[in-house]
Amino acid sequence: MVPGLVVCLVICTRLLVVAGARPPAMYVFGSSILDVGNNNYLPGAAVGRANRRYNGIDFPASSPTGRFSNGYNIADYVAAAKNMGFACSPPAYLSLAPNSSSGPLVLTALATGVSYASGGAGILDSTNAGNTIPLSKQVHYFGATKAKMVAAVAPRAVDAHLSKSVFLLGIGNNDMYVFAAAELARNTSAADQRRNAAVLYASLISNYSATISVQPSSIWPSQIIQKFAIINVGLLGCVPGARVLSPVGACWGRLNELAGGFNDALRPLLAGLARRLPGLAYSIGDSFGFTRDTLADPRASGFADVAAACCGSGRLGGEAECFPNSTLCDDRDRHVFWDRAHLSQRTAFLVARAFYSGLAKYTVPINFMELAQSS
Ligand SMILES: *[C@@H]1O[C@H](CO)[C@@H](O)[C@H](O)[C@H]1NC(C)=O
Ligand SMILES: *[C@@H]1O[C@H](CO)[C@@H](O)[C@H](O)[C@H]1NC(C)=O
Ligand SMILES: *[C@@H]1O[C@H](CO)[C@@H](O)[C@H](O)[C@H]1NC(C)=O
Ligand SMILES: *[C@@H]1O[C@H](CO)[C@@H](O)[C@H](O)[C@H]1NC(C)=O
Repeated sequence: MVPGLVVCLVICTRLLVVAGARPPAMYVFGSSILDVGNNNYLPGAAVGRANRRYNGIDFPASSPTGRFSNGYNIADYVAAAKNMGFACSPPAYLSLAPNSSSGPLVLTALATGVSYASGGAGILDSTNAGNTIPLSKQVHYFGATKAKMVAAVAPRAVDAHLSKSVFLLGIGNNDMYVFAAAELARNTSAADQRRNAAVLYASLISNYSATISVQPSSIWPSQIIQKFAIINVGLLGCVPGARVLSPVGACWGRLNELAGGFNDALRPLLAGLARRLPGLAYSIGDSFGFTRDTLADPRASGFADVAAACCGSGRLGGEAECFPNSTLCDDRDRHVFWDRAHLSQRTAFLVARAFYSGLAKYTVPINFMELAQSS
């Protein structure tokens, strides 16, 4: 077992006795921005993993847990926000995956929720196929979790639990990376780019929609209420791994354009679903806008470096992953980016705070706190 997991299983229980409208649990779906260790359990050398130092250097006991961060990630800080009341993200599903007994999985689900997020995951099954848990499979795993809960507890109690729980979803970044890299390799014309991007958005949005309004409806809490806290796709073109494509380290404009286009389609998708599904409550956190504003005025948030990875190698630390032989920056809290594709712990904290209860411009139509407390 990964050492950090022991730490997390111990500390990630409810901090306080719960009163009022606090959600009983959080269920997490998405990519590496939210993964807390699922990928540690996937077989194969090509799986993206963060189970080695310097990942986790600022986590308790400096444990590399599988989080793509020097410490905690966005899922941890949303879970730990006031009125959520958890110590950190719920644990990785595959760390609980029951070989024989379903006891640990059901108990954990009821006490804190479960995380299905997986580094490299896409909305499309084809994104990084074979080396991740794609969104469709994450939802399938949630369905399996729910079936075990129903077998252990009265179905109505499970529905009541799930209808008050928060479902955190952050995915789409890897679909964009894969698409943009393919486009770059093919040297396609502007007209073809527009046409291909339109096809991409259509399939992403249709899969996203199918995930949230999934049939059979027995998977999500039936007909009652579903609370989705959604993180849109970030400013991907400005991560160190994208900047190294530019001789001067500039952001990769095309990748940002693709991410922005997807985010523009996400808002009307959710608004439309909410009209169609009366029980659906949601909040979209604008990761793209928050990062853009942070990069425009980094000193306002205490950052000194907005371009280079803290842990990496080559130009801007963006040419390789964070390995034990990487160079490490001196002041991790002053870097927006931890490695070539991920935010530092401090940025993750600021993002989560912005979405939970920050400026209204970073969430639509309500913030994560209002979502968590809604009934
Ligand atoms: C499940 O079984 C596999 C192989 O038998 C083992 O490696 C793994 O640690 C087990 N997981 C748990 C949670 O017991
Ligand atoms: C890409 O295609 C354009 C014409 O469509 C051509 O002018 C250009 O040289 C090509 N670039 C590369 C890197 O192949
Ligand atoms: C998602 O898109 C893929 C195509 O990449 C398709 O095969 C699959 O059926 C879609 N899944 C859902 C749930 O719509
Ligand atoms: C650092 O470690 C990685 C992974 O083991 C390896 O691929 C890479 O070549 C190493 N780099 C150097 C400069 O030794």
